[in-house]
Amino acid sequence: MVKRAGGSLLLSIKIDRSSPQPVSTQLCVALREMILEGGFHAGERLPASRTLARELGLSRTTIIEVFDRLVAEGLVESHTGSGTFVSKVLGTSRPRPARPDVSSVVRIAPRLSRLMAQAVTRFGDRQRLPHLPRAFTTALPAFDVFPMAQWARLSAKYLRGARDEIMGYGDPNGSPQLRRALATHLRANRGIVCDPDQLFIVGGAQQAFHLIGSTLLNPGEKVWFENPGAIGARNSLIASGADLVPVPVDAQGLCVDEGLRLSPQFRLAFVTPSHQQPLGCVMSLERRFALLHAAEQAGAWVIEDDYDGEFFFGGRTPPTLKSVDTTGLVIYVGTFSKSLFPSLRLGYLLAPPALVDTFTAIMSKFLQGVPSQTQGVVAEFIDEGHFSAHVRRMRHVYLERHEALLDAARRRLSGLLDVQPTHSGLHTIGHLHASISEMAVARDADHRQVTASPVGRFSLAPVAINALVLGFGGVSPQLIDAGAQVLAEVLENRLAATAPRKSRPRATVV
Ligand SMILES: Cc1ncc(COP(=O)(O)O)c(C=O)c1O
Repeated sequence: MVKRAGGSLLLSIKIDRSSPQPVSTQLCVALREMILEGGFHAGERLPASRTLARELGLSRTTIIEVFDRLVAEGLVESHTGSGTFVSKVLGTSRPRPARPDVSSVVRIAPRLSRLMAQAVTRFGDRQRLPHLPRAFTTALPAFDVFPMAQWARLSAKYLRGARDEIMGYGDPNGSPQLRRALATHLRANRGIVCDPDQLFIVGGAQQAFHLIGSTLLNPGEKVWFENPGAIGARNSLIASGADLVPVPVDAQGLCVDEGLRLSPQFRLAFVTPSHQQPLGCVMSLERRFALLHAAEQAGAWVIEDDYDGEFFFGGRTPPTLKSVDTTGLVIYVGTFSKSLFPSLRLGYLLAPPALVDTFTAIMSKFLQGVPSQTQGVVAEFIDEGHFSAHVRRMRHVYLERHEALLDAARRRLSGLLDVQPTHSGLHTIGHLHASISEMAVARDADHRQVTASPVGRFSLAPVAINALVLGFGGVSPQLIDAGAQVLAEVLENRLAATAPRKSRPRATVV
């Protein structure tokens, strides 16, 4: 039997045999935590490997392997013939408290910079929705169809490269191979002609927005921002201290006339022309030229966020704004979060010629780029042709899922939710009955493990749209169908709950 106080602690170790983490690693993590948190006295003898193996139902080899690891870390000492002991250097013989006593820690409110304190208030307290691969989570690509075997092969190949290249600091502007590959890809697929030197590889589109905001905006300067619009970009620009002007969006995209009426002077405009986030419309050519003209008149930069425009399935590809830009004011931002997967944290910024030196200086002076390994694998993935094949394949997958959603909506949501077809991307919207609160539906749906994002979450100022944003790209057709059924039930319940309340005031009037 395991006897001592520390010994009985050992019996509380739970090993999960269904976990992908090896049993030996689970035990090592648990023992390490117990030792560091003072579960054993310094110098205390650990139970013999044979005893521990029996008590925990593990092999003795596993226990010996784990003890060896802890010896190598200096947490335990092994004395031949007498056993394994917790290292004496770990403190006095008094056990330390399992967790620091937070009640004794003096709490000092952190003093934020004025800029960040203001930004934090302006971010608002929008609930963060779970990024789980379930119906109808937005912003996730289809993980189930990703060619993981190719990816693993390229990762291994990368690591077999020359150590000088794979281990040192890379080019702060981004891997030259990736920037070359991207320039070619943008020319072939997005109609954009650029020099690789104009491309800067960053930690996701989000970092690009932050970089642009902090580089080009002074606190208080006006930024035209689509309303409703992209949440992450909005927060980055708010963090730079800019004054965001909510410009309405209609079926043709950003209402440029409204922008001019609200704020003829502006320093920057943010748009998602290929697939408006969140409404899903494509910005008309007329609006694009009107925006470029307005930007030229005001001397403003324009951020084009082309986050999922590669996935068009409604006829001809809409051109990018950058491809028709003759002003040199458009800063194009792309991401691999949709075209590959978001955990890469990889995006890029295409600077107009006038900004190349500025961003080059910034990247080399205080940012040192993003992980070379990720860039190296992505570059090879593009160069070997897997990227364009993957994007082509995903267009079909997303088209199928888009159709699955429209079909499920026809069968299950008729009269409850008016789901709009879209031309591209991984999400669309569904309009709700005016009497139903989008926030309430989102809450009810969440309780039933379905995500339905209210358009209000994307709004900087109130909008006259009562709708849910529905992601379909990362959701299998089966889950789409089951999710539509849940939404139908949630909406029926809500309608039933609102109907009597609506009729009651009328009855009183009569
Ligand atoms: C509008 C928009 N732009 C860009 C992105 C991608 O951001 P990142 O590259 O930081 O993952 C997203 C992700 O959901 C998005 O919704």
